[in-house]
Amino acid sequence: MILLDGKVISEQMKAEIAQEVENIKKQGGKIPHLAAILVGHDGGSETYVGNKEKSCNQVGFRSTVLRFEDTITEVQLLEEINKLNNNPEIDGFIVQMPLPKHISEQKVTEAIDPKKDVDGFHPLNIGRMTIGMPAYISATPDGIIELLRRYKIETLGKHCVVLGRSNIVGRPISNLLSLKGYPGDCTVTVCHSRTKNIPEITRTADILIVALGQAEYVTADMVKEGAVVIDVGINRIKSDKTKSGWKLLGDVKFDEVAPKCSYITPVPGGVGLLTIISLLKNTLKATKKEIYG
Ligand code: GUN
Repeated sequence: MILLDGKVISEQMKAEIAQEVENIKKQGGKIPHLAAILVGHDGGSETYVGNKEKSCNQVGFRSTVLRFEDTITEVQLLEEINKLNNNPEIDGFIVQMPLPKHISEQKVTEAIDPKKDVDGFHPLNIGRMTIGMPAYISATPDGIIELLRRYKIETLGKHCVVLGRSNIVGRPISNLLSLKGYPGDCTVTVCHSRTKNIPEITRTADILIVALGQAEYVTADMVKEGAVVIDVGINRIKSDKTKSGWKLLGDVKFDEVAPKCSYITPVPGGVGLLTIISLLKNTLKATKKEIYG
């Protein structure tokens, strides 16, 4: 069994991005600049945005955080987005989700210029990705693709089973893996809450991607010997064995599943660590105008 190590790959990729920024600086090019809009004071969102700023600093990007109280109206937020769309200093930006209930996340997502949509949430980017056109790909599916690439995992003709059909993980990754060329050419089955006989299906998976948000859902009897297992779940569970009183569990029962696998991601330390790298990669692409020219 080989561990798909998100820490090793993310450090490697950060170093590569930092090197590219150095080269840009030497050539007098534009330093990538990522902006984030943060509305309100949600603890999780504060942490995510803080980590994004820290990662930007580590690779030599500029970063700006625009903070607004949760009393901001939808119209005002859309105006702020428009300002960023038209600000040539900003290469790419994100609006941290979730947003207060009185603001439509869909409207906000669609208001972002697709050329600056480094989260890859705009329907144009999703549509382009689905038909294999250059597009910003959102962080989690892109992180999974990077792991497959960096560990040179064969995908051609493999049966890939995806558990979960969310717009941000299950659906995009199932699309990407069925596209022509590496790392794609898979036969993909998407399972969800209405699927019958899930264990019967997962047992036929050469590659099993689990993005359900249910702690330790996948057990050893559901996995074929030699399968590649990618666990996207991050579930915070109460524990009296840790100092913090919490522990993080994946959607896969790691201890019993790992011995059966050819490759498996740990939680924490797997796909999660790569998501921020995807955002940095997309910002670099935005600066270099790689996607839309
Ligand atoms: N909230 C949780 N994850 C994300 C993300 O990747 N992007 C944005 N914009 N909001 C989030």
